Order: sequence, then C-alpha cells, then structure tokens
Amino acid sequence: MRAALRRALLPRRRRHERDDFFFSSFVSSSSSSSFSFRWYSSSSANIDDDDDDASKAQIISEAIDGFSIFPQELPSNARDPSKDDFINDATSPPRTREQQMEYSKHESLRDWLARQSRKRSVDEIVVLTGNIHRGSEILHHAVYNKGTGFNHSERERLGVRGLVPPRYFSIEQQAEKIWQQQVTMRESNAPKIARWRHLQALKDRNETLFYRLLQEHVEELAPVIYTPTVGEACLNYSRFFRRARGMFFTKDDVGHMHSMTYNWRGDVKIVVVTDGSRVLGLGDLGAHGMGISIGKLDLYVAGGGFDPQEVLPVCLDVGTNNKSLLDDRWYFGLNSERLEGGDYYRVIDEFMRAIRHRWPNALIQFEDFQTKHALEILTNYRNDYLCFNDDIQGTAAVVLAGVYGALKVLGGKDRSEIRKQKFVMCGAGSAGMGIVSMLHKAVMKSGGLSEEEAYDNFYILDNNGLITNERKLEFPREAAVEPFAKARKATKELPDGASLLDVVKKSKCTALLGASTVNGLFTEDVLRQMGEQNERPIIFPLSNPTSNAECTSEEAARATDGRAIFSSGSPFEDAKGAVSGRLMRANQGNNLYIFPGLGLGALLSGAKTISEEMLVASAKAIADMLTEDQIRRGCIFPLIKEIRNISARVAVRVIKQAAEEGQAKKSVVRIIESDDEHDTKLYKYVKRAQYVPEYRPTVFPVEESRKTVDDY
Ligand code: NAI
Repeated sequence: MRAALRRALLPRRRRHERDDFFFSSFVSSSSSSSFSFRWYSSSSANIDDDDDDASKAQIISEAIDGFSIFPQELPSNARDPSKDDFINDATSPPRTREQQMEYSKHESLRDWLARQSRKRSVDEIVVLTGNIHRGSEILHHAVYNKGTGFNHSERERLGVRGLVPPRYFSIEQQAEKIWQQQVTMRESNAPKIARWRHLQALKDRNETLFYRLLQEHVEELAPVIYTPTVGEACLNYSRFFRRARGMFFTKDDVGHMHSMTYNWRGDVKIVVVTDGSRVLGLGDLGAHGMGISIGKLDLYVAGGGFDPQEVLPVCLDVGTNNKSLLDDRWYFGLNSERLEGGDYYRVIDEFMRAIRHRWPNALIQFEDFQTKHALEILTNYRNDYLCFNDDIQGTAAVVLAGVYGALKVLGGKDRSEIRKQKFVMCGAGSAGMGIVSMLHKAVMKSGGLSEEEAYDNFYILDNNGLITNERKLEFPREAAVEPFAKARKATKELPDGASLLDVVKKSKCTALLGASTVNGLFTEDVLRQMGEQNERPIIFPLSNPTSNAECTSEEAARATDGRAIFSSGSPFEDAKGAVSGRLMRANQGNNLYIFPGLGLGALLSGAKTISEEMLVASAKAIADMLTEDQIRRGCIFPLIKEIRNISARVAVRVIKQAAEEGQAKKSVVRIIESDDEHDTKLYKYVKRAQYVPEYRPTVFPVEESRKTVDDY
C-alpha cells in the first residue's frame, strides 16, 4: 500500500494549453479512521485502519514529500507574465514531525491545506476552500478580490474570466490610481470624512489593496483612517454603517459570550476592545465606539504587519449616557443607560474569559475606556492576561520615547540623563498618570534611585492646582496619584493648589507636560518662564484634539525664541522664534510609534503578560532609531513613514525583554542566544512574520476548482 501511495503521489510535470497555469493538487475524502488521496483524479490509495496516527502521518509525509506545484512555462509573448504564478511547493504538505502529528489529527488534507493557507497566505499562496465558490463570489469577497488584478491564468482557474474588465493592472498600478483619487480629494479640500468613506469603500471591496495603500501612505492616511477623522465617523457611525465588521457584546449577552465567540471564524491574534465611553475626547459614543476599534486595528495591520484576517475589533455595548444618541431613532446600539458597578464589571469579566477561552494566545488591547474604569480594568487583568491599555500605557511609552529623544537633542553628559530632569505634569487623569508613572520608573532605573527619591522629580497638577500630601484624593479614581501626592510635601512656597506659573518657577522644572484637555493652559508667562530657566526647555502639550492642546507650536516657539524641544499629541507645523528666527521642530508624539511594535513583539515572543519594562524597552528602541541628522534638527521621533521598520525594531526589543523576564518561548530564546550584537537574526524573524499586502496566487484544490456556485 505504501509503495502504491508513493507511486501515486510522485511529482510530475504537465503542460497545459498555452498561457495557462498548471495547478495540480490533491484532496482527501476521509472518514475518521481512513484516508484516501487522489492525485489529479487519477490515482488513489488507502492507509490501513490499523496504522496509528504517527505512522499515517509518516506515510503521508513520505508520499507527498516530492509534491509540488509547477508553473506553466509561459511563452515569451504571453500576455500576463506575472511573477504571481511562480508557486513553489506552496501548499505545504505536513513535513516536520510536529506538523505530521498535528495533521494526523485532522479529518482531511483539505482541512490541513485550508489551515495552512490561512497561516501561510502571508508569504506564499491563497488556497480557497470551504464556502468560497468559483466565479463572481470571489469578486465580491473583499479578502480574495483583486478586481483587475487577477492575472490571466487566475481568471481561468477561478472562473472570473469575462467578469472583470479585460486589462490586467498590477497592485502597484491599482494603488497608484486610488492614491490619485485621494490626492485629488485633498487638493480640492474635500472633507476628511469624505476621504475616510472613500477608503472604507475600498476596504469593503478589496482589503489587500486597502492595506497596501495605507502602508504606502501611512503618514498622510493614518489621520484619515484614525484620529482625528475617525472621531467624526464615530459621531455618526450608525449612519455610516454599511458592512458588519468585528463583534459587539452587550449586557444582554452575559451568559452567552463564550458561545458567541464561535460565530467569529478563524484565528485571532489581537483584539482591540472599547466600551465607547470616552472616544478620543469626544465623550460617550456608546456602540459607535466600534469605529475606533476598527480604525486602530487598521493601523496594527499597516504599521505593525498584523495579518488582517487575524484581528478582531470589539465594542462592548453596555448602554450609553449620551442623550442625543438615546434620542436618535437610527442609533444602532442598545437604547439604555450605561451599566455601572458590579454589573459593568461582570460584562468585562465574561468578555475577557470568553476571549481567552476561544483564543488563548490573543493579545487584548483596551481602547478609550473612561478613566474611572480604565485603570481598574487594567489593574484587574494585566497580571493574568496578555493585555494593555493604549491610552494609559501606549501614551506613556510614546511620551517616554519623546523624552529619551529630547535627551539626545540636549546632548551633553549631565543634561542627557533622565534622572536630572524635573517634570511638571498638568493633568492627573488616565493619560497624565500613565505618563508620570512610566517616567518615574525610567528615572528610578536610570539613576539607581529609590522609589521615594524618584518621586521628587515630579510635580503634578490637576484642575485644583498642585497636588500635595494635603490633598483629599478620591478612591479608586485617583489611586495612581496617591504615591506622588504623598511624596510632594506642601510647603509655604508651594502649597497644595499652587498655580502652574508658581510651580514652574519654584520647581525649576526642565520639562512641562500637558494632558489636561485645557486649551491655552500653557500661557505665554508659563512658556517664557520655561525658556528663561532652561537653555532648551522640553514642552509637550499632549492633549487631543488640536483644539484642546495646552499650547500651539507657534506659541512655544515665540515664547522661547525657537529653543523649545516641542512635541504634541495632535499635529502642528514647525514654527520660528520671533527674535532669532530659529526654526523649532514640531514633533508629534503619536502612539502609532509604540502599539503595533509592542503588540507584535509580545505575540511573537510568546509572552503571557505585558510588563512595564517592555514598554520602557519600546520607548528606548524608538529613540535609538534617531539619526545624527535628525537629532541635529531637533527631531525626537524617527519618521512615521518608516513605521514598519520602527515597529519591527520595537518588537525586537520587546522580545528581548520578554526573554529577560523568562517569558519568551524556547524557539525565540534560541534565536536570541545565537544572535549578533545588532540582533540581525531576531530582526529577520520579526520581518518575516509581518504581513505584506500583496496579491498572492489564488488557487482551489482540484475538486473545489471544478465547482461553481450552482453546484452547491
Ligand atoms: P481626563 O479627563 O481623565 O483627565 C484630565 C485631567 O486634567 C484631570 O485630572 C483634570 O483634573 C486635569 N485638569 C483639568 N483642568 C486642568 C487645569 N486647568 N490644570 C491642570 N490640570 C487640569 O483625560 P485623560 O483621559 O487623562 O486624557 C487627557 C488628554 O490626553 C486628552 O486630551 C487626550 O486626548 C490626551 N491623550 C493624548 C494621547 C496622545 O497620544 N498624546 C493619548 C491619550 C490621551
């Protein structure tokens, strides 16, 4: 039997008609105890029932070892000599012992191929099986559709010949065409929301092309796909809703969430979840928060290289207190007030457990939860789940990256040490406290200071002024403030509630940070004072959107004569100092620098939790990417258009940190142990794991390829 099977599956080459592509495959139809294979419908063989799983797998492995798919040799005048057609050995029969054992547990080779194609489509081939049928159905499937990008032989084998216009356009050409449309919209001052809709429509037709475009023009398109434009989209999301994406879990789903996760097909590596309670500073948008989860994951794909088929946007609809939404007859969320207290946390807890049960290794990123819940949720799960909160930890890490970058600009031995900096933070909400907590950790580590000593580098203000040990704090909302408050003793000079100007003057601070949402909080007096007491003051107005920023770049440049090292949450133009005309660089501390790389590194390392040290490592990685020229020009972040490589570098550091903590899987530790000082191997490993939006050859196993929709 084994010999027959081997003979039956020997590789062979065939020629088909001119211009066509020879694709041969095999499928199996099997019961649980026997396998049978067909080679292009010509041979078959059975494996004995009494063979154990390992022997079955061994037989299969030997038999199909030489199996390959050969490209037809195209004549030189072939109309479509696309390199897409060169598929080598791509359907990956199970080869390693591990794969063979895994495969032997599966019902059929078809299942194996389908699973493999999902895994391997990233770099090789797309095998269509299951519910996708030949012909127009492929054109209407955003994941598989290529429009005019189906090459000639694909049109034949997928049954779409004649269903798309005759001329073939490569993905590069298609992307250029769509980009031209975006440029026209930009030049004609079309509203950003129109550009957002244009891109969503593309995503609904052809995901690969959408991600290609987003990746190529991430600098210009990130603000269209995400903040600030997505905020506008979220305000009216019920009206913009066209096509279901992601999953909603509501308070009515308690008791059903585990089973609901099985409604989502496929593997999930990352979940972005919001409860819509504080969307981008726009307040409570209820179920409209789904837009933010979707937009964020688009950036994970474009910036980090996550496979779009393995991401899951989630909105937890626990009601809304937004009256205008409740009064809106078209609002698509639950028409009820927000859950609070134990009921709210029961929803969160069941959701978390359901995700872990269904996808045990998935990373969960919390997004836009209101402060009072954000910290508590993070505290509850951060030690048991692979999760993080981007508003708190991502923002903090990007600000830390900015501070490290600023230290490089400052140069000089003393000035460039983080422990020598005195920070004033305006805003004691989730963003502000997340930032100072991380800075505190970095100060402590750099200077070998004790926790107590390091608190001395920080002055925190909220809407009532300086927070000292005399302040009555509200718990649990202000728990993160407590250690900073305790350490800042109220004095005659700086009593509790002291004004910002007084604090800046008397603390002799070197860095002024804002996460207060109060536009104009950094007044001219305050900025001037910063300029007087520092040769290069660090000024970071971080509040979003632009209308909430504590100061503009122009105001900072004017008051400090262009000497400030400036970074903001929202984009600003570079500005000149009034006297010297010196150009001040307006950096933007975009969370995009951190979250895709952090997520990628955490997943690839196999870590079970995300530690603070991983965030600090991410921040350092970013600052270390600055070139001498950038530093000279006052840049504190590398160029965002390099985001793919930045994310890969961040991922490398996160993986190494995971290994240091004993959290990395063995295979990764082996790479690290055999690597050079530049982490060449680890970097390659990460780059190979990144999804690349390209058209891959699409094929059906033979039996599927014969079927059209009518056959089913
Ligand atoms: P929040 O509303 O929870 O906290 C605001 C804090 O500012 C409160 O502690 C409040 O007391 C304080 N505050 C109000 N008036 C003040 C004043 N006059 N002086 C000093 N403090 C004052 O808001 P959250 O979530 O902490 O966010 C704050 C800002 O940070 C938002 O604008 C948000 O857009 C921004 N943010 C920026 C990110 C970035 O990437 N740069 C990411 C996440 C948030």
